[in-house]
Amino acid sequence: MSFKLKDGLTWVGKIDWELRTFHGQEYSTHKGTSYNSYLIQDEKTVLLDTVWLPFAREFVENLEREIPLPTIDAIIVTHGEIDHSGALPELMKRIPETPIYCTANAVKSLKGQFHQEWNFKVVKTGDKLNIGSKEFIFVEAPMLHWPDTMFAYLTGDNILFSSDAFGQHYASALMYNDLVDQAELYQECTKYYANILTPLSKFVDRKIKEVVGLNLPVEMICSSHGVIWRDNPLQIVTQYATWAQDYQENQITIIYDTMWNGTRRMAEEIAQGIKLADDKVVVKLFNSAKSDKNDIVSEVFKSKAILLGSPTVYKGVLSSVAGIMEEIKGLDFKNKKAAAFGAYGWSGEGVKVLSERLKDSGFTVINDGLRGLWNPDEQAIDNCRKFGKEFITII
Ligand code: FEO
Repeated sequence: MSFKLKDGLTWVGKIDWELRTFHGQEYSTHKGTSYNSYLIQDEKTVLLDTVWLPFAREFVENLEREIPLPTIDAIIVTHGEIDHSGALPELMKRIPETPIYCTANAVKSLKGQFHQEWNFKVVKTGDKLNIGSKEFIFVEAPMLHWPDTMFAYLTGDNILFSSDAFGQHYASALMYNDLVDQAELYQECTKYYANILTPLSKFVDRKIKEVVGLNLPVEMICSSHGVIWRDNPLQIVTQYATWAQDYQENQITIIYDTMWNGTRRMAEEIAQGIKLADDKVVVKLFNSAKSDKNDIVSEVFKSKAILLGSPTVYKGVLSSVAGIMEEIKGLDFKNKKAAAFGAYGWSGEGVKVLSERLKDSGFTVINDGLRGLWNPDEQAIDNCRKFGKEFITII
């Protein structure tokens, strides 16, 4: 499949409708993804990025239906991760001398992955590549989201090729941001930012200020995944600028696991207490053993506070809760409050363990948590509701 975006610009990527996990098993892709590759034809012909390794042969065959491969004058690699560079070895077998424009760090990552001495042309911020009536201007964008990432801006057409930034794992044949379901689109954008970019927010903030400060007209943003932003393309830049500022909504997320429903009942009664005290706040509950971890992370991203619950198991906590905390710790969330709770029958260390993990993960833990002995009775249910009320009052 190819798709003409405008004269001289053709999408030649791959829509991966089947993909259900990305980065190994680390990121769920409920709606598939796309690996966006672009063919730019002016006096010179340029290919910008390729696709993931399993689609390499299909990609090259498809590209050959568009143009004779030797007519490609240059390849631009905005990022070395193999979902975009994976077809390079197959392509370079056919056109081994073609120059590859990329950052110095991308040379390292491409050599490290493919062990090839291709014709690399290292570019830095401000470097240009003239292709006839237009030119590419390169802007290094380290840590958005790899050290090797760069943006490429095409003058004349006023297109920002933004690599992974502003992308989503969202397969759609509709191609453009204004044609797809807006709730789905923003859900996937949020998930992408929350799960991949949150710990890099200071780099996002800096780069957005730098790029906006260039005052370049932007008619389209072509990212490496998902739809092309053509309708009010800067909306996603504005959204990123907001997300980069320790983002939160009026939401509390309760994450728990349970063995015999004691901790589940505590979670639900704490939620009830919160709602009785504040009927405006959004409260969402997730059993971490039964829920998608990346979806939970997206909800934590939107939350001003979280509550974390587990029964005590051999002086520790259930593995799904430990697992989601490991995920959350790495994302380095800022400016969020938290507390722990959980049922116990013997020694009851679980709540203390969770409180420590929350502190280690950068949350402001607002109290010592709530322990519930065995299954909650009426008094314990009342305590849970009070705990919820106090929690929403304090934060
Ligand atoms: Fe879509 Fe960082 O690769």
